[in-house]
Amino acid sequence: MKPSRIEDRIACVLYSEEVIKRRVGELAKEIAIDYADRGFGKDPERRPILLVGILRGALVFMSDLARRFPMPVEYDLISVSSYGNGTAPSAVRLVKDLERPIDGRDVLIVEDIIDTGFTIEYLKRSFAARNAASVRVCSLVDKIARREKPIDIDYVGFTLEEDAFVVGYGMDYAELYRNLPFIGVLKTEFIR
Ligand code: IMP
Repeated sequence: MKPSRIEDRIACVLYSEEVIKRRVGELAKEIAIDYADRGFGKDPERRPILLVGILRGALVFMSDLARRFPMPVEYDLISVSSYGNGTAPSAVRLVKDLERPIDGRDVLIVEDIIDTGFTIEYLKRSFAARNAASVRVCSLVDKIARREKPIDIDYVGFTLEEDAFVVGYGMDYAELYRNLPFIGVLKTEFIR
């Protein structure tokens, strides 16, 4: 029996595997320059940055990004869910918290895609309240069409201007398609 191919459900590829790989490398370089003074030191000023990946979408991106850094980094994972009127989330709920405290740490939130901005706005507020030394945001995709919360995104991989629902490279539709190596748009017949 032939295996089902998830590629067959994709209408178009927006960012290919090669394009993503190149952009992730560029982002890692840019971030490494900004945090060039971080090392292994016990000195709080020189502690490695803490990457915080948002489950589950950012897993693939964070894993690739982290491996492109020349400097040591630590990472942790957090999980949130948003609920609202179906399409537009209005509140964010913490599902799984960080494993360790972040006071005094330089935190870099790693996200797959920012849409309305509710998730990042909630996390930035929450991390500032926990006395992180700094909180920056790195998102592979910045989907600007439906932004509701004005937020600063420090590092952006790709700016998506159209209001498209994308899948792949960690991003899902109904928990599927996360393992596609590229980012694309689903054929409408596979959207319920
Ligand atoms: P926000 O709070 O509206 O910015 O939502 C961000 C989260 O919504 C992301 O972490 C994704 O999990 C999800 N999301 C938003 N747009 C897309 C998309 O086009 N594809 C897959 N997930 C998306």
